[in-house]
This record gives sequence, C-alpha cells and structure tokens, in this order.
Amino acid sequence: MSLDNKSITARAHTNIALVKYWGKKDEKLIIPNNSSISLTLDEFYTETTVKFDDNLYEDVMYLDNTKIDNMQPISNFMNIVRKLSDTNKFAKINSYNHVPTSAGLASSASGFAALSAAASKAAGLNLNNIELSKLARRGSGSATRSVYGGFSEWKHGTDNDTSYAVSIQDPVKMDINMIAIILNNQPKKISSRKGMKMSVNTSPYYKAWEQQTTRDLKSVKNAIYNNDFTTLGKTAELNSMRMHALTLSSDPSYLYLNKDSLLVIDYVKSLREKGIECYYTMDAGPNVKVICQSKNIEKIKLYLLQSFDEENIKISKPGGSIKYL
Ligand code: DP6
Repeated sequence: MSLDNKSITARAHTNIALVKYWGKKDEKLIIPNNSSISLTLDEFYTETTVKFDDNLYEDVMYLDNTKIDNMQPISNFMNIVRKLSDTNKFAKINSYNHVPTSAGLASSASGFAALSAAASKAAGLNLNNIELSKLARRGSGSATRSVYGGFSEWKHGTDNDTSYAVSIQDPVKMDINMIAIILNNQPKKISSRKGMKMSVNTSPYYKAWEQQTTRDLKSVKNAIYNNDFTTLGKTAELNSMRMHALTLSSDPSYLYLNKDSLLVIDYVKSLREKGIECYYTMDAGPNVKVICQSKNIEKIKLYLLQSFDEENIKISKPGGSIKYL
C-alpha cells in the first residue's frame, strides 16, 4: 500500500482494573485466562505521534524526549501494524506519558492504546473500536481496555479474533473517583508479564483465582448497572487482594506492595470505620488507588496528607475514550 506519510497523534487514558487480568493462556497473542473490568481515568494519559518515513531503515521512538534503546517490543508491535496495512515502511514515534512510567499506574495500557490508534491511522488503516482493542492487546493486555472511556470489559475470548474489550458504560453514571497515591515512580522489579506467568505456573491458588474472578466480574458488572457503589468498591478491593495473594503464593514468592502501601490500606480501613466510605485497589506496583465518591474526596485527602505529600496524591474522575488530536 502506498502511504502519504501523514503525522498522526492520538491520546489514550490509563485504566485501572476493578476486576484484574492476571494470567495468560496464550503468551504470544496475549489471550487472558479471565475477563476483566476497568475504569478509564481522566488524569493519566499518553499522547503519541506516529509518522512513517521512507528514509528510515528501522523504527525509532522517543518517550518523553528520550530515545528508547530496547526497541524490540515496539518493533514487534509495529510489525503487526505493517502486516495489517501491507506496508514495509518504518516509523518515527514520539510519545509523552502523563503517567508515572511502569509504577503500577498502567502506563503500558495508555501507551499501547495511543500507539495502536496513531500507528494504525498513520498506516492508512481505519480501525473500529473492536479492531483497535485487539491491536492494542498485542502490545499489552491492559491496553485492550484503554480504547474506551468509562467502564469497559475485556472479554477473554479464545483467540486473536475473539479476545477484545467492549464499552460497558461511557459516560459513567456512578459518582466514582480514584485517588492515586504515588508511593514510588521507579520501574517495577518484576514486570506484570513475568509476575503473572509465575503465578499461573506456580501458585496453588491459581485455579481458585480463575473461579472467583468470574464471580467478581458478574458482581462488579451488576453493581455498575445498578449504580451500586458499595458492591463495586467492596468487590474491587477483594479482587485486588486476591490477585496479590497469587504473588505471595508463587514460588518464589514476590510482593508488589511496600510498607507505605500497607499504611494506605490501614488509612482506608480507619476512614471506613469513621463512616467515610472508600475502598482500595493495587496493581503490579506499590501505588494504591482509593476508590471514593465526590463528597468524600477532600476528607480522604486530608487524612492522607498526614503521611504523604500533596504532589503524590492525584485525584481522578472517569476519563474518555481514545482521541485523535
Ligand atoms: C495488575 O497489561 O501490564 O494491571 O499483558 O503482559 O503487558 P501484559 O500485562 P499488563 O498487566 C496488567 C496487570 C494488572 C491488572 C489489570 O490491569 O487488569
């Protein structure tokens, strides 16, 4: 196909799973064992520009103005785009993360979703949301859900054609916010990719996780439809702890949480005892996300300020879908 080498920019927001994806049945195609549900966040996003260039002999990428040395994951992903669009040109990619990179705040989700949108359009493809979601999935599982705003569900499927995300609700009807407490913005020691593989292969509780996650998914989905904040929060909190129990029960055992994560968990519990309803969820890193309603944001923030700096407390409402800029 002949391309006109247009420069295309797309923005995608991160999402935080309320029912987590933790384990693949196909590592190459990134097909998960379970379906998952997430909320896309307004505050954290990635903006990526892609331009194919006749003079390049390999893909080049800059992330926050720094050249990426290990281009393998990106080049593999761009090969999929090249195959879909029947081109052999390479691209220059410029990406800006408005997310602390690799700290459990899902920068790979917004990153690969933004890259999918920008690269596919720059390659002359005009993908619909389901096709974009499948493409984003090939970069990183959680990116599958970042195509959509609000609540979305990644249906696990069984192969490349049946594993993609759909929108559950956007705009979101529920009054729901997330307060992210940034405890560490250093890249994690054990990537989610490696961690989930260890859990699948060695945790004796993996089977139970699969069964329980299927129940948690139904419960969170119903809570969304019934505007039931309490059930949603309780279930998301439990599901997150169940995921972390898999890391603890793997061989060798590993842990994403640190002492500050445990402190935030204690804070959330004591806030609840005081009648301030809130819940917590954590991903493959120490940062904790507190799930709350608007009326409680300031009270929770005041509480957190006892131990954490204001700049590390980020409040976010639900975010929107992928946009071309
Ligand atoms: C804990 O999507 O980063 O955030 O598919 O291997 O790239 P890969 O993993 P990734 O894992 C996300 C794990 C999680 C839960 C979730 O987002 O559902």
